[in-house]
Amino acid sequence: MLFLCFSAIFVCLGFAAKGQVEFKEQVVVEQVLENCKSACILSRPIRDAKQKVTVEMMIRLVEIIDGDPKLGEFTLRLAEDYSWIDSRLSWPDSDVDMISLPDKYIWIPDIKPNNCRISYDSYSAAYRSHPAKIKRNGSVHWSKYRLMKVKCKFDRSKPVLTNMYACTIIYYSSIWNANQLDVTSMTNSITKHVDYVENSFWNLKKLGAKIIHYRDKCCKDLFVLINVTFHFTHASYFV
Ligand SMILES: *[C@@H]1O[C@H](CO)[C@@H](O)[C@H](O)[C@H]1NC(C)=O
Ligand SMILES: *[C@@H]1O[C@H](CO)[C@@H](O)[C@H](O)[C@H]1NC(C)=O
Repeated sequence: MLFLCFSAIFVCLGFAAKGQVEFKEQVVVEQVLENCKSACILSRPIRDAKQKVTVEMMIRLVEIIDGDPKLGEFTLRLAEDYSWIDSRLSWPDSDVDMISLPDKYIWIPDIKPNNCRISYDSYSAAYRSHPAKIKRNGSVHWSKYRLMKVKCKFDRSKPVLTNMYACTIIYYSSIWNANQLDVTSMTNSITKHVDYVENSFWNLKKLGAKIIHYRDKCCKDLFVLINVTFHFTHASYFV
């Protein structure tokens, strides 16, 4: 009888303690969502409008899906990785190191390819971007996947089997100039990435990326372009 009484007290105490447990990650997510509402999502993460946001970018070629070598047109699946700091998304609770939020809840840099046709048809919305990973100090990491058709350069006088195809994709920001949104630390000349899917027809030979700053003739604004060039050959070409 005594034992039962004690048990009952313990059960009650147990429930009381449980009621006080905070779901810390949830608390942090609520706090971040509360701090970053629509104006935060629509504006750059800088205090002074004259400052620029610096974004690190990396492009990965995931797959050469198919291609028409006579036209030099290929369908590629590319992943873009971006990192930047948005201190509006930071939090003080050191028990939570990282949270993950769908990209619609945060500001994201509007960097896009401008010289390819983007085909989304066969991929669901969820596939197109990963949720952003946010660290306690507001550092954000976000990846975007795209499926695109790109026109490549090749030597029309040579047969397909001995041709080298050079496919260039130019990324840029359609909204911000380089004094407002700049790109740095583009990882250069990655050959094959870990998640690269081998293709039995096409061999990736080289991958190069360059960040180009240029002044536009009309307005003297500084712009940033990211030139990503892949080279590939037909798989039967062993030179
Ligand atoms: C933010 O924190 C991460 C580790 O959680 C660290 O790698 C990164 O350098 C920090 N960034 C800044 C700007 O302090
Ligand atoms: C992009 O880089 C490739 C390879 O270096 C080069 O051939 C091409 O002219 C560049 N395009 C632009 C627009 O910068």
